[in-house]
Amino acid sequence: MQLAQKTAEEAGELLRRTQKKGFKVELKGAINLVTSADQKAEALVVARLKKNFPEFGILAEEAGKSTGPTNAPAVWVVDPLDGTTNFAHRLPVYAVSIALWEDGKPVLGVVYHPALKELFWAVKGGGAFLNKQKLSVSRTIDPNAALFATGFPYDLRESRENNLDYFSAFATRVRAIRRMGAAALDIAWTAAGRFDGFWELKLFPWDIAAAILLVSEAGGKLSDFEGQPLGLETRNVVASNGRLHNFILQVIEECRQKEASKINREQ
Ligand code: IPD
Ligand code: CA
Ligand code: CA
Repeated sequence: MQLAQKTAEEAGELLRRTQKKGFKVELKGAINLVTSADQKAEALVVARLKKNFPEFGILAEEAGKSTGPTNAPAVWVVDPLDGTTNFAHRLPVYAVSIALWEDGKPVLGVVYHPALKELFWAVKGGGAFLNKQKLSVSRTIDPNAALFATGFPYDLRESRENNLDYFSAFATRVRAIRRMGAAALDIAWTAAGRFDGFWELKLFPWDIAAAILLVSEAGGKLSDFEGQPLGLETRNVVASNGRLHNFILQVIEECRQKEASKINREQ
């Protein structure tokens, strides 16, 4: 945990400096950016983790695949810069995410938000914390009093499954929705009670690996869109304060049924 925290802070400071100094931006897809800062931060994190725990595997976003010994007892899962679009546009809403997974379960998770110097961290069974303060999810039960967060996938223009229908269904049922642009922070902020609920489609292991442990350790609930338990490979993710979980699943199910009947009518 000490290493994960120190490394996340170090990578976060590197991102802050790089954002001031300047960085290169490239396109991974039509609207999917990658910057030289993503790569620099990943190199730093991977070097620190490998040096201290050569026996563990590493799954980091920019490498895109697991590296390390094949029979590794545990794997680090790293998003060196969650919120790249924000970073590239100089919005201070981005984070470093580092988790350790063992036997298909998260054992520790750290999400560091450099702009506010907020370090969110959790160890399995030991609670979730923001710096030194213990975290609990919100107690909101009424959707009309709830603040939700979500995001949109990078294939938004090509795919029908682009979250716009879910977004409009939730928009008229909750107090407000925020699209911050960094899924790891959205989920960490749900653990901290700042958001009451979060849903998003097509996420990757590095987006959720650390933050979902924060939510479960802060007393919240996690599932996929069908209400099944989350794994590292779950792409459609719901995180909530628990009390609003069934409400979120119901709205998602309603949207899916509407979409299915629309497709039937079109055929
Ligand atoms: C993205 C952010 C964004 C979410 C995307 C993610 P990246 O991660 O978390 O909020 O909507 O689905 O891919 O590309 O900035 O690391
Ligand atoms: Ca990400
Ligand atoms: Ca990233």
